[in-house]
Amino acid sequence: MNFDMSKLDAAERYKLLVNTITPRPVAWVVTEDGKGQRNAAPYSFFNAMGSDPALVAIFIGRDDVRTRAGQKDSLRAIRETGEFTVALVTESDAEKMVLSAVDAPEGVDELDLLGIATKPATMVTPPLIASAPVTYECRLWQFIETTTNAGIVLGEVVAIEIDDRFLGEENGRLRIDAPAMKLVGRAHGAGWYWRGSDQIRIDRKNWPLDEV
Ligand SMILES: Cc1cc2nc3c(=O)[nH]c(=O)nc-3n(C[C@H](O)[C@H](O)[C@H](O)COP(=O)(O)O)c2cc1C
Repeated sequence: MNFDMSKLDAAERYKLLVNTITPRPVAWVVTEDGKGQRNAAPYSFFNAMGSDPALVAIFIGRDDVRTRAGQKDSLRAIRETGEFTVALVTESDAEKMVLSAVDAPEGVDELDLLGIATKPATMVTPPLIASAPVTYECRLWQFIETTTNAGIVLGEVVAIEIDDRFLGEENGRLRIDAPAMKLVGRAHGAGWYWRGSDQIRIDRKNWPLDEV
C-alpha cells in the first residue's frame, strides 16, 4: 500500500512515521527559563546531526493539549535563553521520564514534582539529571520553525558528561560501554519502548570487497 502523505492529516502522517522509524532515542530535555523556572520533558524526535560542529536535533511540536497551539515550555525556554541540557534515559529512569511528559501547567517544575535529582552543568544554566549515564550541555545553534510555535531545535553540544562507570580503556583508546547503560528508545505505538539488550555485530569492510 502506498500512502500519499498530502492526502493524510497530520495525525495520520505522525502515526505512519512514529510506528516505522523505530527505535528512536529519547532526549530528556531540561530547561530553565528567563525567570529561573525549571522544566523537564522527553522528546524522541531526536538524534545527533554531525560532530563538527557537534549538533543534536530535536523536533518540538505545538502544545495542542494545554495551551491550544501555543509553545511547549521546553521550546519557549530554549528560545528565551538559548540553553538546554539533554539526558539519555535508562530503563530505571524510564517511568519518571514518561511521567515528566504530563501536560502540567506552566510553572510546574517536573524535576521537583517527580523527585528527580539534578547536579549543576559546567557551561550552561539548566541542570543535569543526576541519574543519567550520559548528559549533554547544549546551546541553541539554530531554530527552524516548521509551523507556528513548532520546529526543529538544533543544539550545539558544548559539553558531554559520561558516568565514569561506563568509561574504560582498550589498547590506549577510550572505550565507552554503551550496552551497560541500559538505555531505552521509543518503539511502535503509544507506550512501547525498546531495550538495547539484543544486538548483532556487523563489521564494515574496506575496498575492495573480496570476501562478501
Ligand atoms: C517518550 C516520549 C517522547 C516524546 N517525544 C516528543 C517529541 O519528539 N516532540 C514533541 O513535541 N513532544 C514529544 N513528546 C511529548 C512531550 O514530552 C510533552 O508534550 C510534554 O508535556 C512537553 O512538555 P513541556 O511543555 O513542559 O515542554 C514525547 C513524550 C514522550 C512520553
